[in-house]
Amino acid sequence: MQVRLVVPGIIYFILLLSFSGSQAQEALQWQPMAPGVWKAVSGSPDKVTPLGVAGNIPNSTALQKLGDISFPQSLGQSYAEQFEHKTFLRFPLQREEQLYGLGLNFKTVQQRGTIRELQVDHYGNGDNGRTHAPVPFYVSDKGYGILVNAARHIKVYAGIAVRKDSENPPEEMNRNTQRNWNPQPYSDNVEVIVPAEGAEIYLFAGNNTLEVVQRYNLFAGGGGVLPPKWGLGFTHRTPTLFSDREVMNEVEEFEKRGYPLSFIGLEPGWQTYSYPNNYVWDKDRFPQPDQFLQKLLDKNIRVNLWINPYISSKSPFYKEMLPYTGTHTVWAGPVPDLTLPPVQKLFRDLFIQQHISKGVSGYKIDETDGYDVWLWPNVAKFPSGIGADQMRQIYGLTIQKLTAAWFKERNQRTYGLSRASHAGASSLPYVIYNDYYNHRDFITALCNSSFIGVLWTPEARSSKTSEEWLRRMQSVCFSPMAMLNAWADGTKPWTFPDVANEVKEVMQLRMQLLPYLYNSFSQYAFEGKPPVRAMNLEPGFSFEATEQKGDLNSTENPYEMAVKKDIRDQYMLGDYLLVAPMFAGDTKRTVVLPRGDWYDFYTGEWVGNGSVLEITPGLSKIPLFVKEGGMIPMIPALLHTPKKGASLPLTIRYYGKTEHTSTLYDDDGESFDYEKGEFGIATLKVSKNKKGLLQGTVILPKNKPFSYNKFSWEFMTK
Ligand code: GAL
Repeated sequence: MQVRLVVPGIIYFILLLSFSGSQAQEALQWQPMAPGVWKAVSGSPDKVTPLGVAGNIPNSTALQKLGDISFPQSLGQSYAEQFEHKTFLRFPLQREEQLYGLGLNFKTVQQRGTIRELQVDHYGNGDNGRTHAPVPFYVSDKGYGILVNAARHIKVYAGIAVRKDSENPPEEMNRNTQRNWNPQPYSDNVEVIVPAEGAEIYLFAGNNTLEVVQRYNLFAGGGGVLPPKWGLGFTHRTPTLFSDREVMNEVEEFEKRGYPLSFIGLEPGWQTYSYPNNYVWDKDRFPQPDQFLQKLLDKNIRVNLWINPYISSKSPFYKEMLPYTGTHTVWAGPVPDLTLPPVQKLFRDLFIQQHISKGVSGYKIDETDGYDVWLWPNVAKFPSGIGADQMRQIYGLTIQKLTAAWFKERNQRTYGLSRASHAGASSLPYVIYNDYYNHRDFITALCNSSFIGVLWTPEARSSKTSEEWLRRMQSVCFSPMAMLNAWADGTKPWTFPDVANEVKEVMQLRMQLLPYLYNSFSQYAFEGKPPVRAMNLEPGFSFEATEQKGDLNSTENPYEMAVKKDIRDQYMLGDYLLVAPMFAGDTKRTVVLPRGDWYDFYTGEWVGNGSVLEITPGLSKIPLFVKEGGMIPMIPALLHTPKKGASLPLTIRYYGKTEHTSTLYDDDGESFDYEKGEFGIATLKVSKNKKGLLQGTVILPKNKPFSYNKFSWEFMTK
């Protein structure tokens, strides 16, 4: 009898020991990596990581320039443990803290209170972590960000989990009697499961959310991408089976009608075989690719080729490639193990010979994301030994990295499209797109892209009405890639005659804004500042609990009320422009202005300061607002991006009433010479003359590339 009693007692004791909650968790030991950046390692992390694949060297000059900042003290309370071949992580959360990021989400910007299982996949109309860029990085409005550098299906409970031993436990309530019983009790942490024996974690600090993102981009991404100038013009993707003649007709039609065009995208039919692909020009549709490409290059119109990585038995390198492919096929095409040097060489040689040396300027890399039913299953095996789930997480990043390098070795910049990405991607010359087509959600994705070091385009494809068409074309012109993807529908910018002029106007405005856009991208490259930014990255756009006077309600403090909401339908483009897109069916909208004076872009009129606007903007224009002191440098509305060395007049629009100084970046727009200092920065200065009137001065850079000569100022605010 005694034995029977004692043995279960010991077992319970042992069970209790192994279940001792947070005691098994060890505090993370943070090591400084760069000013404002720390790293902690728990257990034995995977060898394959997103940052390893992205392979960037941190931009230490820019990180130094951002300056040092002290360790965010609360993060000292971060813990980790290994359990059943997984790593559990825990980070603290304060009461009013907000979180952003956690992948390319389409529905919400604020992420506190969400659960995400971060996996590379085609977005399926629900924010659950399955998305094109499931970057395991979150930014806190308390001035720090956490990155889990693992290529795994990381599960994040962002302010959801409540621990028994919490120092800030939620109050126990009685649902029977307390009407304010909370179905989602307060949680004071972010808990993470990494399905691996260890994890590498990075912590980025900042005086504000933007600085956190800057440090993340500069450290993990090595900076941001500076696209070639042609990449920032307008791009049109032609129907999939178009021939060279049909493409040329389309280009001529754009010219004849006066619609700007900077690059053309060819969809799968440029090849003889697609799904799977042979990557060789179809002899009937493109009998003379060299001549076709040259004709377009002469006009400074570039060509982008669609590809996916699944290989046809008719491709020239099929036999050589086969030993280096995985166990499963996609659309009956073997899946190359892109991490292997022989695969990289076979792709490089064929692509340079067939495309790049002939004048192709970029790629659209399709279908490296999902859906599951199309791609390889997780039981697949690859010759490198990398697991199928990890391969899926890094595949998009790997092919972006490879293709970008083929252009860089020729000192030529590229700018293309990718449907899959991950952490550390900010300097890669790719913009994410997808097949989902909800205009509002596309704008939310635009906001969310800014936290995680990726670019996104809300591409326009087709529309049910002319109103929808115009609204979509307006949004796309205020995004990192202004694209009409007509691969399936054959839509043209002028497809809806009743809005054809308004569509042309917004495309022209995009071209006029090239110097402004290019300058904003230079800030991405040199300072890590994303060109498109969610409002939560904008200084002066915050809610401080201490400012609250009375109860939080829309009569006493409408601004605070608005900022507390999830603002996901407006964003900043560069330092000065606030973009508030309109959606089909809407005639009015709310715009929440950060603190500081704001002006209407079109009229220069003052519109508010830290206030909530109700606007009824009409159909013809996209609502745009400019911050006090905003300088918007513009060129004439050209049909194609100006060629290297072109000299252009510049009009600088000035908004506001105060003196202000700004800078304008420029370089040759095509090569990587800027990395060696071959760029010019002009100083734009607005000051008051003796009569108190504003006047503008431009101080040009000396002996440096700079494309603008004649300058005129337009003082927009009367
Ligand atoms: C889709 C892609 C479309 C188009 C199409 C061509 O996967 O998202 O934009 O390229 O393939 O087959």
